[in-house]
Amino acid sequence: MEITMELRKYVAPEIISGTDARLMVGRYLSHFAARKPFLVTDQNLRTMPWFLDTLKEISKYVTEYIIYDNVTSNPREYEVMEGAKVFLENKCDVIIAVGGGSPIDCAKGISIVSTNGGEILDYEGVDEINLPGPPLICIPTTSGASADVSQFAIIRDTPNFVKKAIISKKVVPDLALIDPVPLMTMDPYLTACTGMDALTHAIEAYVSNANSHLTNVHALEAIRLINSTIQAAILPQRSLYTMYQMMLGSLQAGLAFSNASLGAVHAMAHSLGGLLDLPHGECNSLLLEHVIAANYDSACDRYAMIAKYMGIDTRDLSSGHIKDTLLSHICNLRRSLNIPDFAYVLDYNEELLDKLSDGALSDPCLITNPKLLTKEEVKQIYGEVLRKK
Ligand SMILES: [Fe+2]
Repeated sequence: MEITMELRKYVAPEIISGTDARLMVGRYLSHFAARKPFLVTDQNLRTMPWFLDTLKEISKYVTEYIIYDNVTSNPREYEVMEGAKVFLENKCDVIIAVGGGSPIDCAKGISIVSTNGGEILDYEGVDEINLPGPPLICIPTTSGASADVSQFAIIRDTPNFVKKAIISKKVVPDLALIDPVPLMTMDPYLTACTGMDALTHAIEAYVSNANSHLTNVHALEAIRLINSTIQAAILPQRSLYTMYQMMLGSLQAGLAFSNASLGAVHAMAHSLGGLLDLPHGECNSLLLEHVIAANYDSACDRYAMIAKYMGIDTRDLSSGHIKDTLLSHICNLRRSLNIPDFAYVLDYNEELLDKLSDGALSDPCLITNPKLLTKEEVKQIYGEVLRKK
């Protein structure tokens, strides 16, 4: 595989991985000299035994902490603004995010606004944040979003029904505690969707125009790990080891996409999720094979390598044959996880396709897609995955 000699940068947080890594949180609060941490999480997690253990650990190191759990999936701008207000009113000094991509992205938003002021959506785009926020410790509880290691925060602009991407080194967390224990209580469908999100991160990072030797290594290993594990991860008898492999796959995919950025699947998923409030992983799963079909000829060697890491024997196959085999492999994988072929919408019409396509075309993730897609091509892909309810 060709190695680029163009300039590339690579950033990552401090990472501790392994069983019960989350319980290191207390020790790190003491390293950061925290007096009053601010814990951002989601209401569903608060009764989990592993969550209560984590709180107990925090209590050993600080006398008080604030919990902010007013966070929904696809976190909204007003949730970030409210969280920042609570953070400042309580004079908190360290942020701990426990959850999937939504609480972690919300925590990143709180960190930006509490330090830089203004409105969270003012920071949309690349490198728009001046000052770094307070120390941010992340405990991811899904194997997909990788917001715990990434330079991305995705916030929903509620009045305009779009998701906005904030991309900056200033939102890279200080510490990621990569622990498979919380994954054991994750709903199987969420496991499937977040796992497909992670697979999409790895594939888009690998074919990204901004890929590098460092991101390539992580992307390919993530593809191998997730492809070989995801079906076992949704079974009732899944083991801690299986979930750890998923967590490592997600971690490696996160390191890859945080530094190589993403592509058309995410640009289109952000627009789709913003307008229809659909789960992010489901949007990516629906779009993935259709975007690969559109992109394939612009990065055929790279997609052939992806096919190889997904266990496809590419020897003696023509490029067209590899493309067909890869597309049907991804389609079969998605179906085996019970993720549907289509999303159903009430108002399916030309105007909807136009609005979705305009949203995708203005998303920063589209810049690194290996092919410059036209609005017509983007609309056609939306037409392939949407159906009238
Ligand atoms: Fe994603």
